[in-house]
Amino acid sequence: MPLFEWNAEYTVFVPQFDDDHKHLFALVNELNDSMSAGHGRHTINNVVAELERYTREHFSREESALRAAGFPGLAAHQAMHRAFVAKVAGFRAQMESGTVVLPIDVLFFLGNWLRDHILQADHEYIELFAVQKRNLGLSHSSRVQ
Ligand SMILES: [Fe+2]
Ligand SMILES: [Fe+2]
Repeated sequence: MPLFEWNAEYTVFVPQFDDDHKHLFALVNELNDSMSAGHGRHTINNVVAELERYTREHFSREESALRAAGFPGLAAHQAMHRAFVAKVAGFRAQMESGTVVLPIDVLFFLGNWLRDHILQADHEYIELFAVQKRNLGLSHSSRVQ
């Protein structure tokens, strides 16, 4: 059973971002599987590097959309994203330098942070995009896909 499982509770009603969030969970699960299977450092480091890359990509996509929509909490949201990327980059650098093997609590830190961020911070922009869609004349029900 995957460690972090996306379900309807996580939806932000933006299909692209839901897909991004699912993929981030999948990468954390892949990391867990790799560690449980006793894969070598090289394989584990590659998954962490991919998690960092995809996190940056998703955050930048999300921030562009929030900026375009005039989200009032953008600066604070961006600060949260930056702090997390700095953490992930730090873990990746430590692992690449060979000083540490990724401890299980780091894995939980990554997954829990993403889960809490989606459920709290990301959920704060749901209404903004819903209002935008209503203004564009799309029906309310088209939000749920
Ligand atoms: Fe976010
Ligand atoms: Fe997000």
